[in-house]
Amino acid sequence: MALYKPNMATLEMMLFCFTVSLLFSFTKGDGEPSVYQVLQSYNLPPGLLPNGASGYTLDPKSGRYSVNLSSICEVNVANYEFQYSPSITGVISQNNLREMGGVKVKAALLWVGIMNINRNQDQLKLTIDGIGDKEFPVNVFSLSPNCKQL
Ligand SMILES: *[C@@H]1O[C@H](CO)[C@@H](O)[C@H](O)[C@H]1NC(C)=O
Repeated sequence: MALYKPNMATLEMMLFCFTVSLLFSFTKGDGEPSVYQVLQSYNLPPGLLPNGASGYTLDPKSGRYSVNLSSICEVNVANYEFQYSPSITGVISQNNLREMGGVKVKAALLWVGIMNINRNQDQLKLTIDGIGDKEFPVNVFSLSPNCKQL
């Protein structure tokens, strides 16, 4: 039995390396999907993010993501002002973003955080901190808006 121990350890090590490299290639390999494609793969519209995302990380297991924009960004969508921090975080799953950080909407002259976005067929429900839910048709977010020059 003792003879096999080193072999088992080697095998486990190889398996571990294989798993790590598989994870790595899934998130960072050649032909890595854009963050906009990632949104779509979770049935969410790409326009939830403005143009200009410079990089992202995604843990495919937990869905925890972070997205970098080159700077703070404001866009106008459906007559609402949205503001994106240079660093956006959250957890993505099918039809859903939760534990969101870094995205705000202007409501009655104040910037308030968007905490959660949930898709139900052709409607997107945004849960806004201290205000409640606001629904938008999904197609309002079908194209990524450009950041305004601030
Ligand atoms: C995002 O920006 C931070 C700070 O500049 C940097 O440390 C991090 O590596 C960036 N992440 C990605 C995925 O580009």
